[in-house]
Amino acid sequence: MTSSNQRKILVTSALPYANGDIHIGHLLEYVQTDIWVRFQKSRGHNCYYVCADDTHGTPVMLRAQKEGKTPEDFIAEQQANHERDFAGALIEFDNFYSTHSPESKELTQGIYLKLKEQGHISSKTINQLFDPEKQMFLPDRFVKGTCPKCDSEDQYGDNCDNCGATYNPTDLKNPKSAVSGATPILKESEHFFFDLKGFEGFLREWLSSDDHVQSEVQNKMNEWLDDLRQWDISRDAPYFGWEIPGEEGKYFYVWLDAPIGYMASFKNLCDKTEGLEFDDFWNKDSDAEVYHFIGKDIIYFHTLFWPCVLEGSGYRTPTAVWAHGFVTVNGQKMSKSKGTFIKAKTYLEHLNPEYLRYYYAAKLSNKIDDFDLNLEDFAQRVNTDLVNKLVNIASRCSGFITKQFDSKLSGVISEPQLLQEFLGASDSIAELYENREFGKAIKQIMALADKANVYIAEKEPWKLVKNEATKEEAHQVCSLGLNLFKVLVTYLAPVLPKLAEKTQVFLSLENINWASAQEILTDYEINKFKPMLQRIEMKSVNAMVEASKEDLEAEAEKKPVVELSDPIKKEIQFGDFDKIDLRIAKIAKAEHVEGADKLLKLQLDLGEGVTKQVFAGIKSAYAPEDLQGKLTVMVANLAPRKMKFGMSEGMVLAAGPGGKDLWILNPEDGARPGMRVK
Ligand code: MSP
Ligand code: ZN
Repeated sequence: MTSSNQRKILVTSALPYANGDIHIGHLLEYVQTDIWVRFQKSRGHNCYYVCADDTHGTPVMLRAQKEGKTPEDFIAEQQANHERDFAGALIEFDNFYSTHSPESKELTQGIYLKLKEQGHISSKTINQLFDPEKQMFLPDRFVKGTCPKCDSEDQYGDNCDNCGATYNPTDLKNPKSAVSGATPILKESEHFFFDLKGFEGFLREWLSSDDHVQSEVQNKMNEWLDDLRQWDISRDAPYFGWEIPGEEGKYFYVWLDAPIGYMASFKNLCDKTEGLEFDDFWNKDSDAEVYHFIGKDIIYFHTLFWPCVLEGSGYRTPTAVWAHGFVTVNGQKMSKSKGTFIKAKTYLEHLNPEYLRYYYAAKLSNKIDDFDLNLEDFAQRVNTDLVNKLVNIASRCSGFITKQFDSKLSGVISEPQLLQEFLGASDSIAELYENREFGKAIKQIMALADKANVYIAEKEPWKLVKNEATKEEAHQVCSLGLNLFKVLVTYLAPVLPKLAEKTQVFLSLENINWASAQEILTDYEINKFKPMLQRIEMKSVNAMVEASKEDLEAEAEKKPVVELSDPIKKEIQFGDFDKIDLRIAKIAKAEHVEGADKLLKLQLDLGEGVTKQVFAGIKSAYAPEDLQGKLTVMVANLAPRKMKFGMSEGMVLAAGPGGKDLWILNPEDGARPGMRVK
């Protein structure tokens, strides 16, 4: 490729929140981006893919506190987990960084000061809900109360799950802090605002020109544009984030520094890479392209705030922002209880990442429609396309070449027009990749794979090879078959990088890239074929779903015993309480549970021959032998629940701060099994 048409491209995926694990929904985005980036690299462009953990904000701060860690330790652990999962899914970043980095701090503060200098920042005093116990202002999601519209209880401070109304947290009836359970008070605080309204003209122009956004997004944006407001970019201490220069105790709202994290990660890459210049990509007159891949839930931040922040602080704006839809599994929202909330880690423990990459690619388009991962269809599609059609070409042809023809491909291409058809598809497939029409690209590639299989099936080299007169024809058929396979694998390499690597070894190729697809292998020695991809067995898929249900139980187990600071649950009526049958039970038997960190298995004697089996999370405080013969209070009428380790037919009550200090009753005079507790 000549340098004149070599493009400079910077690509990002949304920065995953540091307080969550990567799941297969996230992976849709990272796989989509990774395929596009690998495609650009395969075409010889200067393409860089950067990402980072999104580390700041109240949820991370509180989560770290709850786990008894500093936010820095907590985010470092999470970053290691995220990087492990991404590597497992074959996502190849040029840099994966953190928004809690010196580059992020410098860029964020610099951008703010520019915006301020240009007159885009104003301040005003607002009234906000404040938790008097925890001494902190409460983000909308940390206030719960009764919906002001429909009176439905236990709703978040920003919108109602029941009637869909949106409102301010101060509108909630009977508000409670989700951090401490205290009733919040209104408190004044000075906040800093970014003047979006002043960018209306710029935004209208930006959104309607040069395909900066998809057409579906454009329609949505036009509605939002009629209602531009001042954007509150500050938060009060305590907050995990960057302090606003010159304003003590005030911090930047996480959504200001999050997209700046794209720049920070790239800056960090530039500092490590000879000849790569930050300014070449971010200066106002840059000729580089910048693309952001995102999910549809964060369009507003990327197509409204972000271009205005860049424009207002003198940087270039994105070439395009590309949104995708949300992953559903088996037609429904990912669900923890159904086992379809599948973490990347759990997926990777059961299945090959290329299966998922292929299925995602096969179904992706450049639209923002939601995306269904049907697990049966997934297994079937991967087996049919990759195992039966694609790899089959190589496994059918290679044996003869190795055994009968000295591992050497023929010097003659018997069917040049067939090969030509494969080579000639290069441009149209490339255009589909370029436009993020991966599903259509896969369809075209698989149609070619079908042709290769038909050709081989019609020629029947396994028959030709048996006869001296036709043996050379068999040689040519298998040699062409392997050439066709090589072209197909090259076209699929952005999706299936490991399969491409194996093919590279098998065919002793120096490299596999878009241009090398055109090189024809004649009179050429190959290596012995080794199996490249196993079929997906439904039992592995099912095991993954089961393991995802266990992930949920493990999480529940991990939750500490209720803490004082946990919000007190919603008020119940006497009738509700009266439904709970509390009884004294004698612990007849207590045992360890194989594989459980926190659970003990208890046989509880309720007297009169009634016994119940209960799994209780009290292993931290008691060895089984300490418990036998002791009394406890149990919920005797709790519906039995199937847990990972067996049925649990009730619940035992214990009190204390947790860990070693968790008390149940000692046998005392007067208490006996079966007695009702009042
Ligand atoms: N931290 C923000 C992004 C900041 S970008 C400057 C965030 N993080 S996230 O972890 O919640 O999501 C990361 C990306 O994954 C987002 O683009 C989001 O849309 C995407 N997805 C999260 N769940 C998803 C599905 N179930 N399906 C598809 N994409 C999903 O948002
Ligand atoms: Zn409501």
